[in-house]
Amino acid sequence: MERRDCDAVVLFGATGDLCYRKIYPALYQLVRRGLLTVPVIGVARQGWTAARLAARVRESLKAFVPAADETVVARLTGLLRYVDGEYHERATFDALRQALGEAQRPLHYLAVPASMFPVVIEHLSGSGSAQGARVVVEKPFGRDLASARALNRTLHTHFPEASIFRIDHYLGKEAVQNILYFRFANSFLEPVWNRNFVASVQITMAERIGVAGRGRFYEETGAVRDVIQNHLLQIMALLTMEPPVNTEGEALRDEKVKVLKAVRPVMPAQLVRGQFAGYRSEPGVAADSPVETYAALALQIDSWRWSGVPFYLRAGKCLPVTATEVVVDLGPPPVNVFGDLGPEQPNHLRFRVGPDVAIALGAHTKKPGPAMTGRPVELFVAQQQGDDMDAYEVLISAALIGDTSHFAREDEVEAAWAIVDQVLNAGAPPVEYIPGSWGPQQAEGLLRGPCGWHNPGAKPQEWTRSCSPPSAS
Ligand code: BG6
Repeated sequence: MERRDCDAVVLFGATGDLCYRKIYPALYQLVRRGLLTVPVIGVARQGWTAARLAARVRESLKAFVPAADETVVARLTGLLRYVDGEYHERATFDALRQALGEAQRPLHYLAVPASMFPVVIEHLSGSGSAQGARVVVEKPFGRDLASARALNRTLHTHFPEASIFRIDHYLGKEAVQNILYFRFANSFLEPVWNRNFVASVQITMAERIGVAGRGRFYEETGAVRDVIQNHLLQIMALLTMEPPVNTEGEALRDEKVKVLKAVRPVMPAQLVRGQFAGYRSEPGVAADSPVETYAALALQIDSWRWSGVPFYLRAGKCLPVTATEVVVDLGPPPVNVFGDLGPEQPNHLRFRVGPDVAIALGAHTKKPGPAMTGRPVELFVAQQQGDDMDAYEVLISAALIGDTSHFAREDEVEAAWAIVDQVLNAGAPPVEYIPGSWGPQQAEGLLRGPCGWHNPGAKPQEWTRSCSPPSAS
């Protein structure tokens, strides 16, 4: 990897919510670790001053960094500069160029709506601030395949792909990176990690919260666009990709793209959409909204390794817990020697991806006593508290040094949209579900095989799924 560190950070949308909630706390941690020492220039159109921005940063740290160290806070605020102005005015960008001073390799973070990207990018280029720079953009990368392509074309007008850093914050999570590590740092998995042994895979992203005041945003989005097209398909790609030739960004992304391209586009019959009761009364939500707050779908990968293995993905708001888990079910042994292997007959591997981190192996062991009968147990292979480094910290520090490995590449984003594109505006309307339930009952109908959905527990140790006994045939 060529390491060329950025010599300034420019935050477009510096007065906005993303900076307040995520970016300033991450910058604080980077300063604390000595990973950020370059000027941070906030740009916005609120009529603020540098002092007002510094006050906002302090407010953010008060809210999100308990017991922040004042010397670190002072170091961070000491790096801050502020440029005020409209994004469509050249004068704003001339002022920015001046504020950048000698900096030649700025990192431009576009924490603004995607509709503003063309105008910002055009002016960055026209004012001489795009040359040698990197650009960070946040999801959503478009709202379907066609708009993602258009967005990529816009970005490419002035930035080469290697300088574009598309943030999917799941790729910065410790537990998500651990899936990749666990798979390719251990040889025992490889013999079983294929269609011969894996019976099915489930990925559930459950959230207790509803749309939390973001009704207007959610009306434009829905669960498939918000988290399935990006976070869940990224997890699936890491679980199913072939070994990369090295750990650099291009090699990793080549393999992810390859497997995403092998996923068969979802058809309406393989999707169950749900909407929690009460969603239509949220501020900013239409009284007859057809937007889903829950989606469950079944996918197939047409590849040598995975052909015929069903992948079930599910995400929803207002579910009983906040937890994201992957369960890889291994088929039952060829012969049921002890005759007692029901009702929990599959072995499984379980990755808990959030809010804490765990990997567990589900196996059968003998029940103490004279009879040769067993019981299901889970062996914890790894378990730890939540992330040490927050995802934004990981990702911003990687962008600063030019490491692309945990960012989504153009073709990866487009391949992921191609998988869901046909169901974005098609299919049955969402089924209403009760907040605090596991969503529409209809989602059970997507599953093949003896086991139902695994519902993650509030704690990583909880494992409650039951499966019906294997059929006698
Ligand atoms: C975001 C979605 O990308 O991820 C939100 O827009 C969702 O709707 C959030 O709540 C979940 O992130 P995390 O890190 O809390 O699992």
